[in-house]
Amino acid sequence: MPVLEVKNLRKVFGENVILKSVDMQVSKGDVIVILGPSGSGKTTLLRCLNLLETPNDGEMNLCGKDYNLKKVTGKEKLEIRRKTSFVFQNYNLFVNKTVLQNVTLGLTLARKVKKEEAEKDGRDLLDRVGLTGKYDYYPAQLSGGMQQRVGIARAMAVNPEVVLFDEPTSALDPELVGDVLNVMKEFAKSGTTMVVVTHEMGFAREVANKVVFMADGVIVEQGEPHEIFDNPKEERTKAFLNRITNGSSGKEA
Ligand SMILES: Nc1ncnc2c1ncn2[C@@H]1O[C@H](COP(=O)(O)OP(=O)(O)OP(=O)(O)O)[C@@H](O)[C@H]1O
Ligand SMILES: [Mg+2]
Repeated sequence: MPVLEVKNLRKVFGENVILKSVDMQVSKGDVIVILGPSGSGKTTLLRCLNLLETPNDGEMNLCGKDYNLKKVTGKEKLEIRRKTSFVFQNYNLFVNKTVLQNVTLGLTLARKVKKEEAEKDGRDLLDRVGLTGKYDYYPAQLSGGMQQRVGIARAMAVNPEVVLFDEPTSALDPELVGDVLNVMKEFAKSGTTMVVVTHEMGFAREVANKVVFMADGVIVEQGEPHEIFDNPKEERTKAFLNRITNGSSGKEA
């Protein structure tokens, strides 16, 4: 059974239909990469999956529990957010909190974990993302790549069922991308379930078990990385892949 499933997910902004009846399944341990042109709805889809945006229609099943997304309650939103966490393109760290505080806040405030316990877990996670000794730094004292690794540690701290990454490396200088991708790869190898919007093709080929191609608010095609990259069936997928492998999207390092 999938850990997260959505059916008929629909999101409208004003007059614009941004997601048109999207169906998606995420199983435990999946690493799903979502690709697609700018404006196709990738960020909106991720934000709907953890209810940062409220969908206009759709059903969700998360860890065996059903939600009607059209009339999801505040309590249900919190429940969904507790099981999913988000890694933002621009890190979204608290600038006036230390690295360790950024990682532990979700535990001490939202989940009432004891401070000492949260700090121990926080330090362990920061060690895992290569930030030993940086616990008391403030975000502004770190490189973008380090800040994003704090963002990943924070997302992992709450022990989520699924981690949603929205272009986690696209704001970084090229030389900082590798360390962030390596951290993501390590978490993937240890069984973390991930949905990742990225145009890092190497990561998609090597780490993902499924690639989803979106355009104009629909899932055009999905499959194993080699199927999508080496043998795409849909014209829109072929055209998109040609464009990014020729480097014209501006998003490929
Ligand atoms: N809060 C909002 N209000 C109105 N329109 C929005 C909002 N958020 C997104 N949109 C619109 O929805 C469409 C999809 O946006 P989205 O950010 O999901 O695309 P994307 O695939 O993530 O693009 P990119 O690759 O540039 O990040 C765009 O046309 C965008 O202008
Ligand atoms: Mg986006």
